[in-house]
Amino acid sequence: MPDHPQPAPAVNAGKSRRRVRKAIFPVGGLGTRFLPATKAMPKEMLPVVDRPLIQYAVDEARAAGIEEFIFVTGRGKTAIEDHFDESFELMSTLQTKGKVKELDELTRMMLEPGEVAYTRQQEPLGLGHAVWCARRFAEGEPVAVLLADDLIKSETPCLKQMIDAQAEVGGNILATMEVPEADVSNYGIVFPGAIDGNLVEVKGLVEKPAAEDAPSNFAVIGRYILQPEVFDHLGEKKIGAGGEIQLTDAMAALIGRQPFHGLTFEGTRFDCGSKIGFLEATLAFALDRPDLGGRFRNVLRRYAD
Ligand code: UTP
Repeated sequence: MPDHPQPAPAVNAGKSRRRVRKAIFPVGGLGTRFLPATKAMPKEMLPVVDRPLIQYAVDEARAAGIEEFIFVTGRGKTAIEDHFDESFELMSTLQTKGKVKELDELTRMMLEPGEVAYTRQQEPLGLGHAVWCARRFAEGEPVAVLLADDLIKSETPCLKQMIDAQAEVGGNILATMEVPEADVSNYGIVFPGAIDGNLVEVKGLVEKPAAEDAPSNFAVIGRYILQPEVFDHLGEKKIGAGGEIQLTDAMAALIGRQPFHGLTFEGTRFDCGSKIGFLEATLAFALDRPDLGGRFRNVLRRYAD
């Protein structure tokens, strides 16, 4: 394991337990792994069965008690705004035709006026830069950050698990999962401290290390609870791995100053930014649907050999 500096004593412990009310959804990326589908359509609007990825993330946040939803969009992402907006003509047509189920579904997914804010990342300079673009909306509060292309299937919404853990230990919480050694170079990796049940103390973070340099196989996935001080470090706009402004670098600067833990969440995460992850998610979610699972299983049998 590489050497790592010892953390400084924890500060800000009281404030670091404030309830998380706001969530940031960075949706400004180019989605190059999913071209050509993402040339004119946001990656976050790719549907798994019949819901776009971004809606799963918003539903998860809402089920975790989030009250304010902040989207960091970019060029070509207006479909996301339209998705959460009132569609008067469609709603009245459904009403006239008596399509109650569809109408209920659309009503359920709407965000209340004033609950939602959109800001633009003019250039896709990296995830860290996208989160920084939302700094004024955070107004000094802790925030959740959800990457919609990481789709998580779980009994208890992943963000709820994280908020519950944060209420216990305070500070910053990252969703983590153990990955095979061969895959560590695709993730931000935790330098682990003490392990207590499903919580691991984070003593350092390294973005996409080579397998031989990785301090563990605890990979960080796209769910974060972060204290507002992270915006100060993001504001330095340090260029990190891949020539991008990395969230990992700003988070690493908080370690040792605030409580910082990784939570091994209950559930399965699908990397829907990759084609294979997206296909697997479609299978898992479709098979689990009471209205589709049985018929879909029969379809799959035809392709099994
Ligand atoms: P990814 O690392 O998946 O990048 O971003 P990407 O550009 O979306 O996709 P690929 O790798 O080219 O296929 C993870 C999350 O961060 C957001 C993305 O929208 C996605 O939700 N992001 C990334 C931004 O909002 N802005 C950026 O500059 C980069």
